[in-house]
Amino acid sequence: MSLWPADVQERAKELIGRYPDPKSAVMPLLYLAMRQDGYLTEAGMGEVAGWTGHTPAQVQSVATFYGMFKTEPLGQYLVSVCTSISCMLLGGDDVLEAVEEATGVPHGETDAERLFSVEHVECLGACGGAPAVQVNYELIEGSTPDQARALCRWLQDERPEVVNTDDMQERFGGRRSFDWAIAESENAVGPYPAFGPYGTTPGGEV
Ligand code: FES
Repeated sequence: MSLWPADVQERAKELIGRYPDPKSAVMPLLYLAMRQDGYLTEAGMGEVAGWTGHTPAQVQSVATFYGMFKTEPLGQYLVSVCTSISCMLLGGDDVLEAVEEATGVPHGETDAERLFSVEHVECLGACGGAPAVQVNYELIEGSTPDQARALCRWLQDERPEVVNTDDMQERFGGRRSFDWAIAESENAVGPYPAFGPYGTTPGGEV
């Protein structure tokens, strides 16, 4: 018996129907579970196990392998700093240190107030605009340590409900990899990924 609301159950059925084997839907369903609770709880992972036919241990092994699945509660702002090779060569480690200092939160942790979570991440695919930073998966390219500190101060003082990549790029970014051209329309309202096709867009259709 599922604990999910009827609309989420419908979405789960629809997602499972896309695959020849329900087990293959484990990742989209983990995103649904994450949206339900804000992170992957034991109950949420158990729910996914029930829907897909995996054991809870199998679901947990998937959830803990991929960095975008979170098994702990996050802060309102998840600040991710790339420290892979291109970003490292252009100061990614210094940007990470600046973020850790400005927020008081070391990599992999969340503050007691649940305002900031900080993490270093592998290549974000924005190497041409290194060093790359994300807030709630909204990208900022070419940031410096000073800009990263200013970004954290701004988040702390303004507490924007929605963060937008174009806005943050203009305020706290530097050299872009290329002109992205199409303006963002959805933006991020939470620290978990908003994937429309999986029905995880915050505030959107499930
Ligand atoms: S190495 Fe940082 S975005 Fe690719």
